[in-house]
Amino acid sequence: MAYAHREIETAAKKLKERFDKLDDKRAILRAPELTALYEQIKTFPAGKPRADFGQEVNALKTELEDLVRQSLAPRRTPLAPIDVTAPFDVNTPADKHPAFLPAKDGSRHPVTQELRTVLDIFYRMGFNAEESPEIDDDYHMFTSLNFPPDHPARDDYDTFITEEGLIAPAHTSTMQNRVMKKYKPDLEAGQGIHVVIPGRVFRNEDLDARHEHTFYQLEGVYVDEGINAGHLVATIKAWLSTYFHKEVKIKIQPFYFPFTEPSFEFAASCPFCDEKGCNICSYTGWIELGGCGMINPNVLKQAGIDSQKYTGFAWGFGIERLVMLKYNIEDIRHFESANLKFLRQL
Ligand code: FA5
Repeated sequence: MAYAHREIETAAKKLKERFDKLDDKRAILRAPELTALYEQIKTFPAGKPRADFGQEVNALKTELEDLVRQSLAPRRTPLAPIDVTAPFDVNTPADKHPAFLPAKDGSRHPVTQELRTVLDIFYRMGFNAEESPEIDDDYHMFTSLNFPPDHPARDDYDTFITEEGLIAPAHTSTMQNRVMKKYKPDLEAGQGIHVVIPGRVFRNEDLDARHEHTFYQLEGVYVDEGINAGHLVATIKAWLSTYFHKEVKIKIQPFYFPFTEPSFEFAASCPFCDEKGCNICSYTGWIELGGCGMINPNVLKQAGIDSQKYTGFAWGFGIERLVMLKYNIEDIRHFESANLKFLRQL
């Protein structure tokens, strides 16, 4: 674009040359030449001369802003339209696979990183891992977990339900019935069931610093002959002590879940202050992490497991709450915010 005022034309030429060399293109909008042109507006006589000059200075700023915007726009390889409902390999011939962004430009989300650490500990303790689906049904969310029809405990989970009656799982306990059915042959062959299940879960929550509508949980299921609450406490304690690289004490207190009997909430001694009290544990010395209990015989029966012969325990905790604790993060909403400033700190 050409400018009628000589000083604006000269500044425009100079600024565009500098723009090409800048690493941070946005710096051009703070150039002293641009500020000086704005300062100069008031030196023109009021009326048309001042308005003409002012409009050209604004036009130059708009031109520079457009250049900055174009330079920041992601460069995408144009792709032919695809049927997003078809499986990837069926849909896209090998020679037409889209160009993905280079992996070196990204990093793993802190929840993914920490989940890997947690899973590694459980693998070393002899657990298998299974994934939970992100859409489920009433049977796995409630019926298989011993929630009687119309029981008020169903309301506690604030579930999202589709018009077709499908359910966005509100906890990873939806997987208890599936893993028990899947590993029943191993159990009957004398190997026991020991599975952990990470999963994304959804609740219609009132959001605050500790409550998200979408978050991750990790479920654990252990079934064998002669299993009791002592095994439950020892397993959680062993896992947390490995995770925090120090001896952690466990406190359990009675609670109610329809799928475990007895049921508990479990808390760990604060690994940052050794129970003395600090800002991380709200000066209580303890940190509440999740729910647990001995698997209700009705839940074992729903999976076809002989509840006279076998007993088991299960637990579930929120991954974000654990990561918040480890890194002293004050608000759970940072995780889903996609705020790079937050993500790059971890
Ligand atoms: C449950 O979800 C049970 N399914 C846990 C369980 C599993 C009990 C197996 C017995 C046997 P609860 O609703 O308390 O329980 O959630 C468990 C944990 O998930 C909480 O302690 C917390 O760490 C996390 N959590 C719950 N709601 C939220 C939320 N809105 N945002 C973030 N984390 C949450």
